[in-house]
Amino acid sequence: MAKEFQQADLSGRNSFHVKQRAARLVEFETAEELRAVFAEGAPARWTVLAGGNNILFTRDYDGLLLTPVSQRIEVLEDDGDRVRVRAEAGVEWDDLVEWAVERELWGIENLSLIPGKAGAAPVQNIGAYGREAKDAIERVEMYCVESGAMLTLDAAHCEFGYRESVFKHALKGRVVITAIEIALTRTPQPHLGYGDVEREVAARGGATLRNIREAIIAIRRAKLPDTSELGNAGSFFKNPVVDLATAERLQAQWPDMPLYPAPEPGKAKLAAGWLIDKAGMKGYRDGRVGVHERQALVLVNHGGATGGEVLALARKVQAAVRDKFGVEIDTEVNIL
Ligand code: EPU
Repeated sequence: MAKEFQQADLSGRNSFHVKQRAARLVEFETAEELRAVFAEGAPARWTVLAGGNNILFTRDYDGLLLTPVSQRIEVLEDDGDRVRVRAEAGVEWDDLVEWAVERELWGIENLSLIPGKAGAAPVQNIGAYGREAKDAIERVEMYCVESGAMLTLDAAHCEFGYRESVFKHALKGRVVITAIEIALTRTPQPHLGYGDVEREVAARGGATLRNIREAIIAIRRAKLPDTSELGNAGSFFKNPVVDLATAERLQAQWPDMPLYPAPEPGKAKLAAGWLIDKAGMKGYRDGRVGVHERQALVLVNHGGATGGEVLALARKVQAAVRDKFGVEIDTEVNIL
């Protein structure tokens, strides 16, 4: 049954823990419930608030927030090796990873401990340690607000990119994701190439699914603050993609600057965390907000901060990087 809240307190519903309110919030489970919500047409302002892990409210939300709470995980098909799994939008992403690891199913273990709901995973194509949600997602189920129909979109049409998808662009404000379908496999396929993963996995006795999950959890815990203790939304900024000439100019000046290949030809990806760190902003604190001292990509609410204070800090960090390196860093977090 859908649950409705008026003047909903959002402080427990966003990982920054900012105290804003939403005029109306509906927790929904089924397409029928969504249909009822949109029966008289879409309200002037609405959006989906899933786990609230990638969102910054800078003011009260004067519209409708829709929160998926459906929890089912089911096997759609199992041919002995390849297993197709459907997870409803309200499943906690890391519960899905644990579910897969428990069953010895490979494919999403590198995405362990990413906060958020399964339904949000395709929106920004969550990624970590060399893997992205798009590597496993086959289809996305959604409710179409215009037509009231349920639609399924194949991954090929989701326009997945680095922290990007069609859900942030052409389909924004037009659909509500209700479930995802992922493909997993019993054939071991460890991806240990990123950073400290290989060493941490070896220290645990080798590349089993459980060891990979535990290694990644340990790496994340060491670097990223726990949202239940310190309000934050993971990486606040995306790693910037620049043209090769810019990358070469910067690397000539800072030979130790990390540089990654970008999917687009003639471009390279820089590490925003490194840029912020070298711009002197790591650990910077401004009243109730700050830049995390172990990971410069993460902005934190030290307690009681407003979304506006976090945003002002973000602008300061962007300016510091622009002044030192001439590079623009864009926000990864959805700012409302
Ligand atoms: N670095 C610094 N100082 C810092 C942070 C990073 O010098 O304060 C350097 C690191 O030493 C490394 C490079 O910058 O050479 C990259 O850092 P790291 O490996 O920590 O990864 P990242 O690029 O900062 C990305 C994702 C994370 C993801 C990790 C691991 C983005 C914006 N962030 O961070 O995703 O967990 O890789 O794969 O792509 C998130 O999106 O919320 C998130 C946490």
